[in-house]
Amino acid sequence: MATQNILLLPGDGIGPEVMAEVRRVLAVIEARGVLSLSIDEGLVGGAAYDAHGVAVSDGDVEKAKAADAVLLGAVGGPKWDGVPYEHRPEAGLLRLRKDLELFANLRPAICYPALADSSALKRELVDGLDLMIVRELTGGVYFGEPKEITDLPNGQKRAVDTQVYETYEIERIAKVAFELARVRGGRVTSAEKRNVMKSGLLWNQVVTAIHKSGGYEDVKLDHMLADALGMQLVRAPKEFDVIVTDNLFGDILSDVASMLTGSLGMLPSASLGAEDENGRRKSLYEPVHGSAPDIAGKGIANPLAMIASLAMALKYSLGKPDVADLLDKAISETLGEGLRTGDIWSEGMTKVGTTEMGSAVAKKFEALLGA
Ligand code: NAD
Ligand code: IPM
Ligand code: MN
Repeated sequence: MATQNILLLPGDGIGPEVMAEVRRVLAVIEARGVLSLSIDEGLVGGAAYDAHGVAVSDGDVEKAKAADAVLLGAVGGPKWDGVPYEHRPEAGLLRLRKDLELFANLRPAICYPALADSSALKRELVDGLDLMIVRELTGGVYFGEPKEITDLPNGQKRAVDTQVYETYEIERIAKVAFELARVRGGRVTSAEKRNVMKSGLLWNQVVTAIHKSGGYEDVKLDHMLADALGMQLVRAPKEFDVIVTDNLFGDILSDVASMLTGSLGMLPSASLGAEDENGRRKSLYEPVHGSAPDIAGKGIANPLAMIASLAMALKYSLGKPDVADLLDKAISETLGEGLRTGDIWSEGMTKVGTTEMGSAVAKKFEALLGA
């Protein structure tokens, strides 16, 4: 069995706490001989800034490029509020996404049966929910130039962020969405603001064109204005299958979607690059949530988004989709037994901390592997 290289970047706040639970699951994977792994660790975010004065070092970027999969916890926190903008913890994550060309960010929102009553919405609206947000991750207003604050002669300041999209960027993300829809529910909803943004107009035209010319007409394509989609997401979320949208709308809509599943602590993500000639692609897996400074250090963070991100790595990068399914099943069954971290806890359930939740999932996963 070929050894696969994993790079762990725990980051800040609850990042290291939830990453410890991923290590526990990785230990099971190694002990049971599921995969042969070489596991390395690096620094990102405030942790990297404190150690090296930059939010991610060149050395760790190189390690990330060479890895079969990168797992990242979370970055950021009030401690680094005063550091120069280009060295903020978030800049480390953005550099990794850009330098590894991870243009396709898959953010699945699945409501596990045991959590149908934990959502902010009524049970019948979310029970059985399984949607996939495909967020463009290396373009748009996150990276467009100019991006600056300048002084005006009248003493005021002027801030500029630039939304830029080129045809090829929209084409490749649309293809990812169509391919995914084919193995899911067969429907794609593309979201933009073509009514006010030129980039929205181009987005709409390119997605429509590639749907036809790319041979994806077996997939049903709809277009929605992004604000209306936000409304539909909380009105009737089960009407969606795959949603494809730009970097900023995807960021916002995926946080909204997380509350349909019970908590931001439940949503994993996969960030993928293009496949090379050997069918390999660079990848990074991370929870959708951040470093949660309000609960960091208390041992109460929900580790399930991080563990589910490892499941996505097993599926998309490590060649073990069957093992990924078992890990998802272990999460679902652990929830089915009533274990809940504080963010998803409700009356009658057993409240547990990060370690207890991670241990319970790892134990169940190990049992499922043996079955
Ligand atoms: P956040 O996602 O860190 O937290 C939002 C709320 O959700 C908080 O109340 C938090 O306690 C809760 N929460 C988040 N994850 C949880 C979990 N696993 N278990 C239980 N509760 C959880 O967002 P924020 O507070 O707006 O941002 C905090 C910092 O994180 C900022 O510096 C931000 O830039 C950064 N951030 C990083 C990432 C990332 O690393 N990918 C993502 C989002 C935000
Ligand atoms: C996310 C985060 C990041 C983003 C930040 C931390 C740069 O919110 O991954 O959703 O805005 O993309
Ligand atoms: Mn976000």
